[in-house]
Amino acid sequence: PLHPRAEAHGKVIVLGEHAVVYGYPAVAAGLPQGIVLEASPRSDPRLPITLTIPAWDLDLELHPGSDHPVARACLEVLAHCDGPVTGWAIRGSSALPPRAGLGSSAALTVALARLVYGPGASLDDVVAASLAGERVFHGEPSGLDSRVAAQGGVLRYVRGEPPRQIRPGAPLPLCIIPSGIPRSTADQVARCRSRLEHLPSVVRPVLIAVGQAVESGIHAIEHGDLDTLGVLFDVAHGLLGALDVSSPALDRMAADARAAGARGAKLTGAGCGGCLLALAGDAPESLTAAFPSLRPLFVEVAAS
Ligand code: MEV
Repeated sequence: PLHPRAEAHGKVIVLGEHAVVYGYPAVAAGLPQGIVLEASPRSDPRLPITLTIPAWDLDLELHPGSDHPVARACLEVLAHCDGPVTGWAIRGSSALPPRAGLGSSAALTVALARLVYGPGASLDDVVAASLAGERVFHGEPSGLDSRVAAQGGVLRYVRGEPPRQIRPGAPLPLCIIPSGIPRSTADQVARCRSRLEHLPSVVRPVLIAVGQAVESGIHAIEHGDLDTLGVLFDVAHGLLGALDVSSPALDRMAADARAAGARGAKLTGAGCGGCLLALAGDAPESLTAAFPSLRPLFVEVAAS
Protein backbone atom coordinates (compact mmCIF):
# COMPACT_ATOMS: atom_id res chain seq x y z
CA PRO A 1 0.00 0.00 0.00
CA LEU A 2 0.94 3.65 -0.35
CA HIS A 3 1.18 6.18 2.48
CA PRO A 4 -1.49 8.90 2.23
CA ARG A 5 0.77 11.93 1.79
CA ALA A 6 4.36 12.86 0.92
CA GLU A 7 6.32 16.01 0.11
CA ALA A 8 9.53 17.11 -1.58
CA HIS A 9 11.34 20.40 -2.20
CA GLY A 10 12.02 22.21 -5.43
CA LYS A 11 15.61 23.25 -6.01
CA VAL A 12 17.67 25.98 -7.53
CA ILE A 13 21.28 25.36 -8.50
CA VAL A 14 23.26 28.32 -7.18
CA LEU A 15 26.54 27.37 -8.91
CA GLY A 16 28.02 24.28 -10.57
CA GLU A 17 25.40 22.87 -12.99
CA HIS A 18 26.73 20.67 -15.80
CA ALA A 19 30.24 20.41 -14.29
CA VAL A 20 28.60 18.44 -11.44
CA VAL A 21 27.83 15.67 -13.97
CA TYR A 22 31.63 15.19 -14.36
CA GLY A 23 32.38 14.99 -10.64
CA TYR A 24 33.02 18.68 -9.86
CA PRO A 25 31.23 20.26 -6.88
CA ALA A 26 27.96 22.21 -7.06
CA VAL A 27 25.99 24.21 -4.55
CA ALA A 28 22.19 24.21 -4.60
CA ALA A 29 19.33 25.36 -2.38
CA GLY A 30 16.02 23.69 -1.61
CA LEU A 31 12.98 25.84 -2.42
CA PRO A 32 9.97 26.08 -0.13
CA GLN A 33 7.94 25.71 -3.33
CA GLY A 34 7.91 21.95 -3.93
CA ILE A 35 5.31 19.25 -4.38
CA VAL A 36 2.76 17.48 -2.18
CA LEU A 37 1.40 14.10 -3.34
CA GLU A 38 -1.70 12.46 -1.88
CA ALA A 39 -2.62 8.83 -2.54
CA SER A 40 -5.97 7.09 -2.16
CA PRO A 41 -7.01 3.55 -3.12
CA ARG A 42 -9.06 3.17 -6.33
CA SER A 43 -12.45 1.42 -6.21
CA ASP A 44 -10.96 -1.67 -7.87
CA PRO A 45 -7.35 -2.64 -6.98
CA ARG A 46 -6.84 -3.94 -10.54
CA LEU A 47 -7.33 -0.46 -12.05
CA PRO A 48 -4.15 1.31 -13.21
CA ILE A 49 -2.46 3.86 -10.98
CA THR A 50 -3.44 7.40 -11.98
CA LEU A 51 -1.28 10.51 -11.51
CA THR A 52 -3.01 13.89 -11.67
CA ILE A 53 -1.11 17.16 -11.13
CA PRO A 54 -3.42 19.96 -12.34
CA ALA A 55 -0.76 22.67 -11.90
CA TRP A 56 1.45 20.85 -14.41
CA ASP A 57 -1.43 19.88 -16.78
CA LEU A 58 -0.64 16.25 -16.03
CA ASP A 59 -3.29 13.54 -16.00
CA LEU A 60 -1.79 10.10 -16.63
CA GLU A 61 -2.43 6.41 -16.19
CA LEU A 62 0.73 4.54 -15.27
CA HIS A 63 0.62 1.68 -17.80
CA PRO A 64 3.71 -0.52 -18.21
CA GLY A 65 3.75 0.17 -21.98
CA SER A 66 3.34 3.95 -21.65
CA ASP A 67 5.71 6.08 -23.69
CA HIS A 68 5.04 9.23 -21.62
CA PRO A 69 8.38 10.04 -19.92
CA VAL A 70 6.70 11.05 -16.63
CA ALA A 71 4.72 7.78 -16.55
CA ARG A 72 7.88 5.80 -17.34
CA ALA A 73 9.86 7.62 -14.65
CA CYS A 74 7.15 7.01 -12.05
CA LEU A 75 6.96 3.33 -12.96
CA GLU A 76 10.76 3.06 -12.58
CA VAL A 77 10.52 4.60 -9.09
CA LEU A 78 7.68 2.28 -8.05
CA ALA A 79 9.58 -0.76 -9.39
CA HIS A 80 12.74 0.32 -7.54
CA CYS A 81 10.78 0.61 -4.27
CA ASP A 82 8.77 -2.62 -4.79
CA GLY A 83 5.69 -0.39 -4.73
CA PRO A 84 2.22 -1.25 -6.05
CA VAL A 85 1.63 -1.56 -9.82
CA THR A 86 -2.13 -0.90 -9.82
CA GLY A 87 -5.00 0.29 -7.63
CA TRP A 88 -4.08 3.84 -6.56
CA ALA A 89 -5.03 7.40 -7.44
CA ILE A 90 -2.21 9.90 -6.81
CA ARG A 91 -2.95 13.61 -6.86
CA GLY A 92 -0.30 16.31 -6.68
CA SER A 93 -0.25 20.01 -5.97
CA SER A 94 2.76 22.17 -6.71
CA ALA A 95 3.76 25.81 -6.92
CA LEU A 96 6.82 24.88 -9.02
CA PRO A 97 6.73 25.53 -12.75
CA PRO A 98 7.44 22.21 -14.56
CA ARG A 99 10.43 21.80 -16.92
CA ALA A 100 11.94 25.09 -15.81
CA GLY A 101 15.13 23.78 -14.20
CA LEU A 102 13.68 24.05 -10.70
CA GLY A 103 13.78 20.35 -9.96
CA SER A 104 10.15 19.48 -10.71
CA SER A 105 10.97 15.96 -11.90
CA ALA A 106 13.23 15.24 -8.92
CA ALA A 107 10.57 16.59 -6.54
CA LEU A 108 7.97 14.30 -8.12
CA THR A 109 10.14 11.18 -7.98
CA VAL A 110 11.29 11.90 -4.40
CA ALA A 111 7.70 12.43 -3.19
CA LEU A 112 6.60 9.27 -5.02
CA ALA A 113 9.33 7.21 -3.33
CA ARG A 114 8.15 8.62 0.01
CA LEU A 115 4.58 7.52 -0.72
CA VAL A 116 5.94 3.96 -0.87
CA TYR A 117 8.57 4.09 1.88
CA GLY A 118 6.70 6.33 4.34
CA PRO A 119 7.90 9.22 6.46
CA GLY A 120 10.66 7.24 8.22
CA ALA A 121 12.59 6.42 5.02
CA SER A 122 16.31 7.22 4.92
CA LEU A 123 17.43 10.03 2.62
CA ASP A 124 19.79 7.65 0.80
CA ASP A 125 16.97 5.19 0.00
CA VAL A 126 14.69 7.98 -1.22
CA VAL A 127 17.45 9.50 -3.39
CA ALA A 128 18.32 6.09 -4.91
CA ALA A 129 14.66 5.52 -5.84
CA SER A 130 14.32 9.03 -7.28
CA LEU A 131 17.43 8.49 -9.41
CA ALA A 132 15.87 5.38 -10.98
CA GLY A 133 13.17 7.74 -12.30
CA GLU A 134 15.52 10.63 -13.15
CA ARG A 135 17.49 8.30 -15.47
CA VAL A 136 14.43 8.23 -17.75
CA PHE A 137 14.79 12.00 -18.27
CA HIS A 138 18.53 11.97 -18.86
CA GLY A 139 20.92 9.08 -18.83
CA GLU A 140 23.56 10.43 -16.46
CA PRO A 141 21.94 12.48 -13.67
CA SER A 142 24.47 13.75 -11.16
CA GLY A 143 22.01 13.09 -8.31
CA LEU A 144 22.11 16.71 -7.19
CA ASP A 145 18.45 17.42 -7.98
CA SER A 146 17.24 14.30 -6.15
CA ARG A 147 19.40 15.01 -3.10
CA VAL A 148 18.20 18.61 -2.73
CA ALA A 149 14.56 17.62 -3.40
CA ALA A 150 14.82 15.10 -0.55
CA GLN A 151 16.90 17.09 1.92
CA GLY A 152 16.32 20.82 1.31
CA GLY A 153 18.66 23.45 2.79
CA VAL A 154 21.80 24.71 1.06
CA LEU A 155 24.08 21.83 0.06
CA ARG A 156 27.56 21.39 -1.37
CA TYR A 157 27.25 18.32 -3.53
CA VAL A 158 29.79 16.12 -5.27
CA ARG A 159 28.60 13.07 -7.15
CA GLY A 160 28.91 9.95 -5.00
CA GLU A 161 29.88 11.78 -1.79
CA PRO A 162 27.73 12.65 1.23
CA PRO A 163 26.56 16.27 0.79
CA ARG A 164 27.69 19.04 3.15
CA GLN A 165 25.17 21.49 4.61
CA ILE A 166 26.19 25.13 4.04
CA ARG A 167 25.14 27.87 6.49
CA PRO A 168 24.77 31.26 4.77
CA GLY A 169 26.46 34.04 6.76
CA ALA A 170 23.76 36.43 5.51
CA PRO A 171 20.40 35.67 3.85
CA LEU A 172 20.78 35.18 0.08
CA PRO A 173 18.33 37.39 -1.84
CA LEU A 174 17.73 35.11 -4.82
CA CYS A 175 15.46 36.09 -7.67
CA ILE A 176 14.39 33.32 -10.05
CA ILE A 177 13.14 34.59 -13.40
CA PRO A 178 11.44 32.01 -15.63
CA SER A 179 12.30 32.49 -19.31
CA GLY A 180 9.11 30.67 -20.34
CA ILE A 181 11.21 28.70 -22.85
CA PRO A 182 10.94 24.92 -22.38
CA ARG A 183 14.08 22.84 -22.77
CA SER A 184 15.23 19.26 -22.35
CA THR A 185 17.83 18.45 -19.70
CA ALA A 186 18.93 15.41 -21.74
CA ASP A 187 19.65 17.59 -24.82
CA GLN A 188 21.52 20.13 -22.75
CA VAL A 189 23.69 17.53 -21.01
CA ALA A 190 24.42 16.09 -24.49
CA ARG A 191 25.44 19.54 -25.85
CA CYS A 192 27.94 19.99 -23.04
CA ARG A 193 29.31 16.47 -23.55
CA SER A 194 29.70 16.99 -27.27
CA ARG A 195 31.67 20.22 -26.74
CA LEU A 196 33.88 18.45 -24.19
CA GLU A 197 34.53 15.57 -26.58
CA HIS A 198 35.24 17.92 -29.50
CA LEU A 199 37.71 20.17 -27.65
CA PRO A 200 38.75 18.41 -24.43
CA SER A 201 41.90 20.46 -23.82
CA VAL A 202 39.90 23.70 -23.94
CA VAL A 203 36.63 22.59 -22.32
CA ARG A 204 38.07 20.53 -19.43
CA PRO A 205 39.61 23.70 -17.89
CA VAL A 206 36.18 25.37 -18.19
CA LEU A 207 34.65 22.55 -16.12
CA ILE A 208 37.47 22.93 -13.59
CA ALA A 209 36.81 26.69 -13.44
CA VAL A 210 33.10 26.05 -12.77
CA GLY A 211 34.15 23.85 -9.84
CA GLN A 212 36.49 26.60 -8.58
CA ALA A 213 33.65 29.14 -8.83
CA VAL A 214 31.61 26.80 -6.61
CA GLU A 215 34.32 26.65 -3.91
CA SER A 216 34.78 30.44 -3.99
CA GLY A 217 30.99 30.85 -4.01
CA ILE A 218 30.60 28.67 -0.91
CA HIS A 219 33.23 30.77 0.88
CA ALA A 220 31.32 33.93 -0.13
CA ILE A 221 27.97 32.43 0.98
CA GLU A 222 29.37 31.38 4.36
CA HIS A 223 30.88 34.83 4.92
CA GLY A 224 27.86 36.80 3.71
CA ASP A 225 29.98 38.34 0.90
CA LEU A 226 27.15 38.98 -1.57
CA ASP A 227 29.20 41.23 -3.86
CA THR A 228 31.76 38.48 -4.53
CA LEU A 229 28.95 35.95 -4.97
CA GLY A 230 27.38 38.26 -7.57
CA VAL A 231 30.64 38.46 -9.52
CA LEU A 232 30.86 34.64 -9.39
CA PHE A 233 27.32 34.41 -10.84
CA ASP A 234 28.47 36.53 -13.80
CA VAL A 235 31.64 34.45 -14.26
CA ALA A 236 29.65 31.19 -14.03
CA HIS A 237 27.20 32.43 -16.68
CA GLY A 238 30.12 33.09 -19.04
CA LEU A 239 31.59 29.64 -18.35
CA LEU A 240 28.22 27.98 -18.99
CA GLY A 241 28.08 29.84 -22.31
CA ALA A 242 31.48 28.31 -23.13
CA LEU A 243 29.96 24.89 -22.34
CA ASP A 244 27.30 25.64 -25.04
CA VAL A 245 24.32 25.54 -22.66
CA SER A 246 23.23 29.21 -22.65
CA SER A 247 21.12 30.94 -25.32
CA PRO A 248 20.72 34.47 -26.73
CA ALA A 249 17.49 34.87 -24.69
CA LEU A 250 19.22 33.92 -21.41
CA ASP A 251 22.23 36.12 -22.23
CA ARG A 252 19.87 39.08 -22.79
CA MET A 253 17.98 38.36 -19.57
CA ALA A 254 21.26 38.21 -17.61
CA ALA A 255 22.32 41.58 -19.06
CA ASP A 256 18.90 43.08 -18.25
CA ALA A 257 19.03 41.78 -14.66
CA ARG A 258 22.50 43.31 -14.14
CA ALA A 259 21.31 46.61 -15.65
CA ALA A 260 18.38 46.53 -13.20
CA GLY A 261 20.78 46.39 -10.25
CA ALA A 262 21.33 42.67 -9.67
CA ARG A 263 24.68 41.87 -8.05
CA GLY A 264 25.07 39.14 -10.63
CA ALA A 265 23.01 36.82 -12.84
CA LYS A 266 23.38 33.41 -14.40
CA LEU A 267 21.33 30.66 -15.96
CA THR A 268 20.35 27.96 -13.49
CA GLY A 269 19.78 24.26 -14.18
CA ALA A 270 20.18 22.79 -17.64
CA GLY A 271 20.08 26.12 -19.54
CA CYS A 272 18.92 27.16 -23.03
CA GLY A 273 15.57 28.09 -21.49
CA GLY A 274 14.40 27.34 -17.99
CA CYS A 275 15.22 30.10 -15.51
CA LEU A 276 17.66 32.89 -14.88
CA LEU A 277 18.96 33.22 -11.31
CA ALA A 278 19.83 36.73 -10.16
CA LEU A 279 21.37 37.78 -6.87
CA ALA A 280 19.27 40.82 -6.02
CA GLY A 281 20.92 44.12 -5.14
CA ASP A 282 19.70 46.66 -2.61
CA ALA A 283 16.48 47.40 -4.54
CA PRO A 284 15.00 44.00 -5.52
CA GLU A 285 11.78 45.68 -6.81
CA SER A 286 13.75 46.95 -9.81
CA LEU A 287 14.11 43.32 -10.94
CA THR A 288 10.33 42.84 -10.93
CA ALA A 289 10.03 46.05 -12.95
CA ALA A 290 12.67 44.86 -15.45
CA PHE A 291 10.76 41.62 -16.21
CA PRO A 292 7.10 42.67 -15.99
CA SER A 293 5.71 39.74 -17.98
CA LEU A 294 7.88 36.97 -16.51
CA ARG A 295 6.78 37.07 -12.85
CA PRO A 296 10.09 36.70 -10.98
CA LEU A 297 10.05 34.55 -7.86
CA PHE A 298 11.92 35.94 -4.84
CA VAL A 299 13.38 33.49 -2.34
CA GLU A 300 15.43 34.55 0.63
CA VAL A 301 17.66 31.62 1.57
CA ALA A 302 18.82 31.85 5.18
CA ALA A 303 20.68 29.52 7.55
CA SER A 304 18.24 26.74 8.52
C1 MEV B 1 20.00 19.89 -14.06
O1 MEV B 1 19.12 20.45 -13.10
C2 MEV B 1 21.41 19.99 -13.59
C3 MEV B 1 22.48 19.42 -14.52
O2 MEV B 1 23.74 19.67 -13.89
C4 MEV B 1 22.30 17.93 -14.74
C5 MEV B 1 22.56 17.09 -13.49
O3 MEV B 1 23.14 17.56 -12.52
O4 MEV B 1 22.19 15.90 -13.54
C6 MEV B 1 22.48 20.12 -15.87
